[in-house]
Amino acid sequence: MTHHPMHISLYVTPGADALARQAAELIIESCEQAITQRGTFCIALSGGSTPVTLFRLLAHPEYAHRMPWSNIRVYWVDERCVGPDHEQSNYGIARNELLHRIAATKFYRMKGEQQPEDAAQGYDALLRKHFALHDTEYPRFDCLLLGVGADGHTASLFPDSDALKETKQLVVAQHVPAHPANRLTLTLPVINNARTIIAMASGRDKHPAVVRALSLLAPHNLPIQQIMPHTGRLVWVVDEAAARGA
Ligand code: 6PG
Repeated sequence: MTHHPMHISLYVTPGADALARQAAELIIESCEQAITQRGTFCIALSGGSTPVTLFRLLAHPEYAHRMPWSNIRVYWVDERCVGPDHEQSNYGIARNELLHRIAATKFYRMKGEQQPEDAAQGYDALLRKHFALHDTEYPRFDCLLLGVGADGHTASLFPDSDALKETKQLVVAQHVPAHPANRLTLTLPVINNARTIIAMASGRDKHPAVVRALSLLAPHNLPIQQIMPHTGRLVWVVDEAAARGA
């Protein structure tokens, strides 16, 4: 139960390129705010294909110059259990498309090449240290990017999985019905503690999941419906195909 108003906005863009531009503007805005208020910007990235256009855009000089990269810390929302150079590595994709093109970024990846339980524990410990957390606290990312699957998964939180109930661990290892099947993922309380969550969806196959996510009073049985920021805001950026299903 939430006891405060939820701050949700929705942008519908003509296509995937406009979606990436809108997301970039939101990231820059959230970065400016974080830098002004706290001096650093902590962002957590998701994987999948949707953010690739966004990563390329942010790497473009026109955008790259608008962000103080030496004061930015990059983390991950989830990772596939593969090595950093594997084509399915979420870290690897972000590195190739964005991070390697920008000097002075600090980035902290989930170690997909390790034993999943060890990697989850390792990232949990890293977050507790970086955010100087007490036992029952959650990290507060300034900005966190999410995608959504046609089945309603988000991050590597899949429908009916145990991970959805996790409240103690910040990061868990998961075996999921997707490829690659072994994943590491932030847990719901961590995701929902972010200041700004940007959820992106492109393409008509995402339409049913987006409709469910935005039907705020419907039973919350899909992971994407459980994205409800505790005190932050949730911004949906979807293209027309995802918005209309046509
Ligand atoms: C991952 C994700 C995942 C992704 C969705 C959407 O590592 O796969 O973080 O939650 O965001 O599956 O993926 P697409 O953008 O490829 O549709």
